[in-house]
Amino acid sequence: MKATAIAPANIAFIKYWGRVDDALTLPANSSLSMNLSECLTTTTVEFSPQREEDDITVAFYGEDPESLEGSKKDRIVRQLDRIRSLAGSHVHAKVVSKNSFPEGVGVASSASAFAALTVAAARAIGLSLSEKELTILARLSGSGSACRSIPDGIVLWEKGVDHDTSSAYSLFPPNHWNLVDIVCLVSKKEKTVGSREGHAGAWTSPYYRLRLQKLPKRTQKITTALAEKNLSAFGPILEEEAVDLHLITMSQKPPLFYWLGKTIDLIHAVQQWRMEGCEAYFTFDAGSCVHILCQQQSKEEVVKRLHQFDEKMQLIINTPAQGTRLTDTHLF
Ligand code: PMV
Repeated sequence: MKATAIAPANIAFIKYWGRVDDALTLPANSSLSMNLSECLTTTTVEFSPQREEDDITVAFYGEDPESLEGSKKDRIVRQLDRIRSLAGSHVHAKVVSKNSFPEGVGVASSASAFAALTVAAARAIGLSLSEKELTILARLSGSGSACRSIPDGIVLWEKGVDHDTSSAYSLFPPNHWNLVDIVCLVSKKEKTVGSREGHAGAWTSPYYRLRLQKLPKRTQKITTALAEKNLSAFGPILEEEAVDLHLITMSQKPPLFYWLGKTIDLIHAVQQWRMEGCEAYFTFDAGSCVHILCQQQSKEEVVKRLHQFDEKMQLIINTPAQGTRLTDTHLF
């Protein structure tokens, strides 16, 4: 009754922002992302009839393991409850989890956390679920983007029309294209408003409905650019979509401002580099971090320029990664 899973975080090329059903985490639009090879959560789950309650320990990045209490624990317990109820079981679990990257800065740490938890707990309790069923279960965790961390490589989460059809699948395997995503940790301070509250406000932006109208075409165009491995077609759509997300967050009520001064400085820098022939493009999640996308052949040049921009800024260099996998190396 013990299993361990390793799950990647993902960076959305088409963002999930806003829901049509909160309880079921049904998104207002389909979204598309790439799994990140160096942003991983490892989680071990062990169910045991002797245990009287769930015991959850998380080693946050660079910190000692800490036993979770309060709302963070509640979200995990609720996900364990869903898995217990599918298995018709009441046994409690010990959960230990660790992250290879800082949380809450705009790298989707809740996505990898809930993907790893879902896959490890389903296996530990003896459920045998298909990949599609696992993505649906991960979606229910409330961190909807967790469903995109389960399949391999570049993944589409179809919004679907109901609970059974809102699921994720792989569009391209990790080795399809030699993309690189360089995460620039502009600030390590945790953001103050999580995406859960952010999604709830999306509909209050006067521009939100327009965004939803534009997304199917944008998604189709970026999928074609990805299929053709065409960076000059992919990049402008990536940036347009990233700015669109923040246009919505800044115009919803209450407004959310995730960018810091340095985020904007990096946008200008990337535009300048392109004029100088270094082809790279930016995107961001709901946070201050900038993700810079380029091809493998320009990676060293981009990293050199990033060091010149700020030699102290921490970088995480990712390639497209496989999705959530099980391992025999347990954390306890
Ligand atoms: O899945 P959540 O609730 O953590 O929301 C993710 C929201 C964004 O990161 C901004 C966009 C996305 O699609 O990942």
